[in-house]
Amino acid sequence: MRLFLALQIPPAVRKNLAEFLAELRALSSQPRWVRAENLHVTLKFIGEVQPDKLKATRMALSAVHSGQEVALDFRGLGFFPNEKRPRVFWAGIEASTNLVQLASDVDRVLAELGFPPEKRPFSAHLTLARFEPPGAPQNLCAVIRENAKREFGSVAAKEFHLIESKLKPGGAEYTTLETFPFVVAEA
Ligand code: 2AM
Repeated sequence: MRLFLALQIPPAVRKNLAEFLAELRALSSQPRWVRAENLHVTLKFIGEVQPDKLKATRMALSAVHSGQEVALDFRGLGFFPNEKRPRVFWAGIEASTNLVQLASDVDRVLAELGFPPEKRPFSAHLTLARFEPPGAPQNLCAVIRENAKREFGSVAAKEFHLIESKLKPGGAEYTTLETFPFVVAEA
């Protein structure tokens, strides 16, 4: 099974993004737009996990804690790797510093189970669309530039989710397998 970990976005943020995505989708059908119900903040892409490793994986994840909620502000737009030859169009996230710690703790406990650790530093974002081949149409870029500082709302996240991704012709289908509350009171 193909698994990843993510923070969920609250209904108000999802609604703001859905409305904005509907405007953009009307401009171009070229990108693979992420369906609003599928939007999430990826904490770690785990990849293929053999079912016999699932229990140990869940146990390890339940031990990941943070002293505080993670504050997320959804603001701004941008491209990976850059605007010239974009592969990914994203909404930005300003997060409290414990988010990077959380991602690194998750990476560490999974690495102890043999999952490959991340090579690149964690960069919080919300993928809105993917371009294959890379490149965004001019009219879309113009509207994205006009909205470069748009705000979508905020949340204080207390839990992350283990999600199974099934790749279907119509796009990925996600199922939440388990929710891990990560906030523990500091002693
Ligand atoms: P991103 O969209 O936040 O960048 C589920 O597939 C999620 O895992 C995707 O939304 C993607 O995060 C992330 N991911 C990271 N590496 C991936 C990979 N090699 N294949 C698929 N998804 C990956």
